[in-house]
Amino acid sequence: MLSISEYDITSNGPGGILCVWWRQWRTERALGHRGIHFRATSFDEVLAAYAAMTQEEFDAINGPQEWANWRTIPRAMTGHVPDRPLRVLDLGCGTGASTRVLAFYCPQGSHITGYEIAEPMLQFARRREYRQRNGEPAKVDFICQGVTEPLREPDASIDLINASGVVGHHLTPATIPPLVAEMRRVLTPSGVAMLDVGPTMPGSDLLRIMADAGFAYQGHYTSWFGDRTGEMVFSFSHAS
Ligand SMILES: C[S@@+](CC[C@H](N)C(=O)[O-])C[C@H]1O[C@@H](n2cnc3c(N)ncnc32)[C@H](O)[C@@H]1O
Repeated sequence: MLSISEYDITSNGPGGILCVWWRQWRTERALGHRGIHFRATSFDEVLAAYAAMTQEEFDAINGPQEWANWRTIPRAMTGHVPDRPLRVLDLGCGTGASTRVLAFYCPQGSHITGYEIAEPMLQFARRREYRQRNGEPAKVDFICQGVTEPLREPDASIDLINASGVVGHHLTPATIPPLVAEMRRVLTPSGVAMLDVGPTMPGSDLLRIMADAGFAYQGHYTSWFGDRTGEMVFSFSHAS
């Protein structure tokens, strides 16, 4: 299994969380004055809000998420995914901040596909560089569509599904069932789902929904002890 040390995690992630929070607060206030409210669960509202932002605005409001990704994602991966090239999905990848962390920490030769509903976000994501730990370019591509629509992947073809700042911030117990069904379909028998929890999807709801769908809970990983979100890890059981 892949093993990533705490030393690696703290030395590779960005620092300075107070500046990151300040930038987010200032940008969210400016967006609010322009009538752009991104903390929504309706597909159309979310799409309109993210599509109306510049890359700088998105990066500012997404700064705390990006800071947390560099800690939460490797902690969730370690001990749960095999140390061989993986086929990976990054759901709601935005401008690619979570995709960059996956590209860096996934074993060399992995292939990551980001799904995102807002095409303007993907234009930024496509311009970024995605590097593996050895500095070589990572294999990354993107698909513009909602994650509650049928995924484009064949059955039992995906080793790892990641969602950072999407399930717990934009999906609800009422809107997630199509995604859960698709995760059951596309994950390999040993596949793993790392899904964020948050205000719109509390951990208790996600645990119940995933257990009902036959997934086994493997743990909850956060960026720091005060983080009330983080990602829950589930393994897939085709026996259920
Ligand atoms: C908080 S951002 C997180 C972006 C990225 N995962 C990261 O960690 O930096 C949430 C992203 O999810 C996207 N999103 C929200 N609902 C979605 C849906 N139903 N399908 C696909 N993307 C969605 C938004 O457009 C936005 O780019």
